[in-house]
Amino acid sequence: MYKNFFYKLKIFFLRILGYDKPLRLALLKYLSLKYKRFRPHYETILLESVLEAKKIGYTKVSIIELGVAGGNGIIALENYKKKIQKITNVEINICGFDFGEGLPDSDNKYDLPFFWISGLYKADNQKLNEKIKSKIYYGDIKDTFKEFIKTNPPIISTIFSDLDYYTSTKNFLNQLPEFKDFLTPRVYCYFDDIFNSNHYINEHNGELLAIKEFNNENEDIKIGKSVGHSSDFKFPLGGENLFMLHNFNHIDYFKNINFSKTSLSLDDKKVDKIFNF
Ligand SMILES: C[S@@+](CC[C@H](N)C(=O)[O-])C[C@H]1O[C@@H](n2cnc3c(N)ncnc32)[C@H](O)[C@@H]1O
Repeated sequence: MYKNFFYKLKIFFLRILGYDKPLRLALLKYLSLKYKRFRPHYETILLESVLEAKKIGYTKVSIIELGVAGGNGIIALENYKKKIQKITNVEINICGFDFGEGLPDSDNKYDLPFFWISGLYKADNQKLNEKIKSKIYYGDIKDTFKEFIKTNPPIISTIFSDLDYYTSTKNFLNQLPEFKDFLTPRVYCYFDDIFNSNHYINEHNGELLAIKEFNNENEDIKIGKSVGHSSDFKFPLGGENLFMLHNFNHIDYFKNINFSKTSLSLDDKKVDKIFNF
């Protein structure tokens, strides 16, 4: 029990003292790890994307989670959906996509095969389906996304991507140009696997490589990331993973969504309100 106790204590203190974010953030992160359905990042990304969809004039949107596993993400989304539908009057259609047998086999070196193991995250699909109202498409995302599109779903305003692999993410992204009319002008994209605490993930593998290649291969749709900024306050725990997909040729791309009343006149000393709902 006390094996290497002092060495562990030393590493513990080094980690605490060297942690370069405020410790209150560590507390929020800890709560989200301990309580798997406490996802302030999911809630605020969902909220902002639906508020934007409403400003453009959409009355229905689709929210998709890629990689569902046991379903904690979908259950959290279903909970947040109730409140957000109420305050926005926008109907939210949630759909999930999962292989259904845990992670698929992979022989691709960019999938972090030393870290993500085939079959990992296999879950009880039936148990989940009894608990939720949202539809989950089981199978490989390269086939199931097409199936979903065939149902003529409401326009997609948010993508929560948690497929772990480079190949799976790439197979999904590659379909977007063909189905770009099913995407809002700007789609809020949360990519879960852009960091791991051993620093294995970077722009040469996993989701980041898939995004980089997608951007190199496409002109009309780009997926980008804002710079880290002191004005970034809307997405607790989400800002680092949030990317914005710009669907540049969308018919509504130029539609004004900035209803701010803030004046920059010298006579006007009031600031605009913080909440936009
Ligand atoms: C980390 S888990 C998802 C966890 C879930 N988002 C959550 O928050 O609890 C990753 C999932 O991605 C799914 N996945 C990976 N590659 C896939 C593919 N090509 N098609 C469909 N699902 C895939 C796996 O089946 C696995 O269940």
